[in-house]
Amino acid sequence: MELEALNKPTAEDKKIQEELRASGNIPGHIAIIMDGNGRWATKRFLPRVAGHREGVGSVRDIVEVCGQLGVGYLTLYAFSTENWNRPQDEVSTLMRLLLNSLREETDKLHRNNVRLTAIGAIDKLPGEVQKKLADAISITKGNTGLTLNLALSYSGRWELVNAVREIALKVRQGEIELDDINESLISDHLTTSGIPEPDLLIRTGGEYRVSNFMLWQLAYSELFISPLYWPEFRRQHLYEAIRDYQNRERRFGLVSEQVRRRNNGGEKSLAAKIFQTITGE
Ligand code: FPP
Repeated sequence: MELEALNKPTAEDKKIQEELRASGNIPGHIAIIMDGNGRWATKRFLPRVAGHREGVGSVRDIVEVCGQLGVGYLTLYAFSTENWNRPQDEVSTLMRLLLNSLREETDKLHRNNVRLTAIGAIDKLPGEVQKKLADAISITKGNTGLTLNLALSYSGRWELVNAVREIALKVRQGEIELDDINESLISDHLTTSGIPEPDLLIRTGGEYRVSNFMLWQLAYSELFISPLYWPEFRRQHLYEAIRDYQNRERRFGLVSEQVRRRNNGGEKSLAAKIFQTITGE
């Protein structure tokens, strides 16, 4: 039953999704900072972990609707490097929720053509989570629909430090020259190598910061801050964020006139056209 629901959006959903597709581009990559679980729970006099549990429902709904809309990549900031410093029982609950979600949802993801990937210091996660995650990644690796990318034990600075170390080592070993270091080489050494940069970053919980998330990749992302706590953020709020995104003008450092000319210049993606203008290629 649940699976069918995932494949078949309601008539109302269908209508909204068709409108979104018709009225502009669907973001190829959406990244989300899922914040406010603790506050959602505290407001209801519940323990913080109740907010994380309820937050899993929002993950399910947003993954489902991204698949239906034809979003290419969805990256969820599920556990940051800094989150290890939270009280031990909260960390344990988050790991258990992740484990249970992987146990319960992998089949459904697979049958719905979702490919699961993960970025972060995966070797720091408990052994059984690592194992389930590796299994889920392997089971779904050939899928061609939505890529659901989980950021786990991840932070932008952690990732940049690793990239700098790898590049420095290659220079020291004579594999590359100092002059070979450019933006594309750095991108290739990040955990997101091969994944397009997020078009849209959504942060729930009302805070206006990026909290050490995808620091390199967010350079030109459009930001959408929702005042709602993550457990409250459901498909209708995602529709609103996408509508808002579709009304933005992404200039990538150019002026409006250049963007308009580029937009009218053929079939290439906007990002490719802008890149062409910047590089002159
Ligand atoms: C931030 O809220 C949220 C997290 C640290 C964890 C998010 C995890 C889940 C939604 C559940 C598991 C995820 C998956 C992918 C199955 P917060 O605790 O910082 O909230 P606060 O700012 O109100 O304290």
